[in-house]
Formats: sequence, C-alpha cells, structure tokens
Amino acid sequence: MDKKVKKKVLQEIPYGAYIVGTRTDDGKDWLMFGTWLMQTSFKPPLVAFAFRKDSRTLANVQRQKGFAVSFLQEGMQDLAESVLDGSFEKVKTQPTTSGLPVLVDGAGWIECHFLEVLDQGDHHVVLAEVTDVGAGNGSLVTLDHFGWHYGG
Ligand SMILES: Cc1cc2nc3c(=O)[nH]c(=O)nc-3n(C[C@H](O)[C@H](O)[C@H](O)COP(=O)(O)O)c2cc1C
Repeated sequence: MDKKVKKKVLQEIPYGAYIVGTRTDDGKDWLMFGTWLMQTSFKPPLVAFAFRKDSRTLANVQRQKGFAVSFLQEGMQDLAESVLDGSFEKVKTQPTTSGLPVLVDGAGWIECHFLEVLDQGDHHVVLAEVTDVGAGNGSLVTLDHFGWHYGG
C-alpha cells in the first residue's frame, strides 16, 4: 500500500469537531477535543466514538459508563485550542442532569451510556446509547473548517 495515498484518501473522510465531557475519579470535569464520532443505529439511538487507548477520557468513560459530546459551532476554534491545551477554566460548561460537563454555547450535545468497547488498534471504539440530548445554536462545524486533520 502506498502510504501517501493511504493518508490522502483516509483524510477525505469528513468529521465533526466535538468536546467530550467526562469526570475524573476524584470528581473533576475532564474535557477532550475529539472528532471520530458516528451514529450506528436509529432504534435504539447508538453512536460509536473512537478514543485514544491511553487517553484519560477513555479511562473515565469506562469507569463511569458514560460521556457527553458537545458539538462545536463556527467561531469556536479558540475554545477547541483551550481544551487541547488543558486550559479548561477558559471553557464555559454546565452539567447535564447526570453531572457530565457540556458546552454552554455549543451547537447541541448528546449524553451517552457506555455499552461496549472494541479494543483493536491505537484507538478503541466505544459503542454507546444516546440517553439525553440538548439543543444549541448554529450548526456543527467540520474539522476541515478549522483546517485540521485527524485521519490518515
Ligand atoms: C484534530 C484533532 C482531533 C482529535 N480527535 C481525537 C479523537 O477522535 N479521539 C481521541 O481519543 N483523541 C483525539 N484527539 C486527541 C485528543 O484531543 C487528546 O489529546 C488525547 O486523546 C488525550 O486525551 P485525554 O486528554 O483524555 O488524555 C484529537 C486531537 C486533535 C488535534
């Protein structure tokens, strides 16, 4: 396989820009910028999210059996960078009814209940059921919109 072509073709897959909210084992909010999310079932509503296998987020998800995903809208690149930098104090969040942090000004959010994990490769795929949702303003931006890539 040609590595350059592999990278180019895989980077054609479109992704959204999300903030995943979980809680640490000592009860603090934890935020992660991520992009590998897709819906996998209508009934029940299921999604799959691929998490880096060594991420604190994946550990939080597996321990707490849940996570929230906030959808970023236009103008939120600085917010995404703050999350990537670990500057969570710059990011305005509010708790869902079960206490997971979601963005106050995002394009919407979903809360997900952990079902299963597929542990192959450097990211592990978590299958989860959508158990709650919140509407937001605007619409989800794609990763492309920020000029970023995470495939290849
Ligand atoms: C453009 C971009 C997209 C990313 N997408 C994902 C993703 O889909 N899943 C993931 O686990 N990490 C993703 N990351 C890495 C996470 O932001 C994070 O740094 C890493 O997973 C460590 O997570 P932790 O803070 O929970 O330990 C992405 C990073 C960048 C820059």
